[in-house]
Amino acid sequence: MDICARSRPPFLAGAKRVTAGALAAAVLVTLTATTGVSQAAARSDPRPAPSDGLSVALFGASEVSLPGASLAVLSGAPEAALLDPVLSAPGDTGSVARPRPRVDCRHVKCVALTFDDGPGRYTDTLLRHLAKYHAHATFFVVGSNVVVYPRVLRRTVAAGHEIGNHTWSHPVLTRLSAAGVRSQLVRTDREVKAAGGVVPQLVRPPYGAFNKAVRRQIARPLVLWNVDTLDWRYRNSATVARRALRAVRPGSIILFHDIHRTTVGAIPHVLKSLAKRGYRFVTVSELFGGHVPHVAFGAAPPKLL
Ligand code: NI
Repeated sequence: MDICARSRPPFLAGAKRVTAGALAAAVLVTLTATTGVSQAAARSDPRPAPSDGLSVALFGASEVSLPGASLAVLSGAPEAALLDPVLSAPGDTGSVARPRPRVDCRHVKCVALTFDDGPGRYTDTLLRHLAKYHAHATFFVVGSNVVVYPRVLRRTVAAGHEIGNHTWSHPVLTRLSAAGVRSQLVRTDREVKAAGGVVPQLVRPPYGAFNKAVRRQIARPLVLWNVDTLDWRYRNSATVARRALRAVRPGSIILFHDIHRTTVGAIPHVLKSLAKRGYRFVTVSELFGGHVPHVAFGAAPPKLL
């Protein structure tokens, strides 16, 4: 297979400035697509990676800068039709969140901290850390954990954080039937609504794994990330903080998991350090000015490039 041809997502061709990390990322996309195993996913979650590897989001601690674009899309499968006009039709997007942004991320340095797999026993501590810095974050919750910690979910919503859907039981969605994918999302929506009174407007597929078939079942934006702390592997707060601080750029979406005590322990240092560097901590919807792309990866707004 021609790796080079397959490794160049269309958006890279037109970008005027792409970091070396992004190019490495593109190669990794190809590896993902050709080996059939999601290396990126394997690195970002301790659970088994998808074996069909059709289309897996790509990231690592690299940043893609795209002039004039508020969206970066990485996919190992060009045929995934990520920008399918049918899916992007306004009436088809399932009331995508359009909150009034508190800050304009085109003019100030923004970063979106995202926390997956909760709620959990450390989430309340995390909420206290975030409150101290007036930081807003996005929590991609697992429905089966919302059932266990409904009050934590409610407190998360009450504190002004955004809730995203991270499925019911964290399966590899590309292995499920269409009905199975829908069920994973619907059950979680229902539980989040019951516990917190909101319906998630964003979805993060477990392991970052999705393909055209999965995408077809999800009208909401898929939110990936471009800074991976690998906090599930590095159970050390200093290491997690260092990985986040080293890779962050304006417009970054950073992946954490609030089910790990060491991750929550890293957050005060992350917040303090980034606040000192002038960053504002926003939700994913705020990062994109309320218009989250169909596949959001994290990118620097044009004015900050
Ligand atoms: Ni997860």
